[in-house]
Amino acid sequence: MTMEKKIDKKKLPQHIAIIMDGNGRWAQKHAFGRIIGHQKGTEAVRDIVRASCELGIKYLTLYAFSVENWIRPTQEVNALMLLLERYLRSELNEMLERDIRLVTIGNRSALPERINKSLKEVMEKTSHNRGMVLNLALSYSGRDEILRGINTLLTDMRLSKLPSEPITAEVFLSYLDTAALPDPDLLIRTSGEYRLSNFLLWQTAYTEFYFTEILWPDFGRDDLLEAIINYQQRERRFGLTSDQLPKVAPG
Ligand code: FPP
Repeated sequence: MTMEKKIDKKKLPQHIAIIMDGNGRWAQKHAFGRIIGHQKGTEAVRDIVRASCELGIKYLTLYAFSVENWIRPTQEVNALMLLLERYLRSELNEMLERDIRLVTIGNRSALPERINKSLKEVMEKTSHNRGMVLNLALSYSGRDEILRGINTLLTDMRLSKLPSEPITAEVFLSYLDTAALPDPDLLIRTSGEYRLSNFLLWQTAYTEFYFTEILWPDFGRDDLLEAIINYQQRERRFGLTSDQLPKVAPG
């Protein structure tokens, strides 16, 4: 049976989030510079976006650049920005063809103007697409997102724009970058690291985690399918007991 046939299309994760880790180690393993690793990583991004879209995943969030990544060597930061810019330029047509809508989370004001210009263009041109949502986390960190949200919330409170206290979870999450997105059902991290690294701290409360040793540039369609098959074998209880869960009719 092919990997694809093992997938229950009725139980697909609605939202998959990925920590794409291991570009540097992939480069080292092949005796290349780190930037070649990021180039290869960008090719893996293309494959995984394509595969997710074909499978019918509704939301795909990729951790492309963290707040902490700014302190990497300037040359590496510049290379990542260039790769991102090229990616946006080269993928626009495919996003339009595949009905993909691009959105971002993170502190956009920290990004170079050129990137913001490209992002704005691609986001505007894909804004009417209703297929998969591709969400790029750029200059993103979960704590930064929460603090930016709280500060905006405080400003709104001072301006009496908030209906009432206490702040509910619903009001709070409307101040997060992910306000328009459902929480991730499945979070994948490559390269054998078992950390969240400041990714989607609020949103992963009930997310299923999947870790693999595979380095991001080597992560392909079949690896994604394997992660989904693994996810589908789990029982998500959201704090309930097994007996309290709705029974699924056999067959
Ligand atoms: C982690 O590998 C990866 C990153 C910090 C950047 C991820 C970026 C890409 C995959 C390419 C650009 C993205 C897009 C959307 C076009 P690492 O460098 O931390 O690897 P290491 O831990 O092995 O050193």
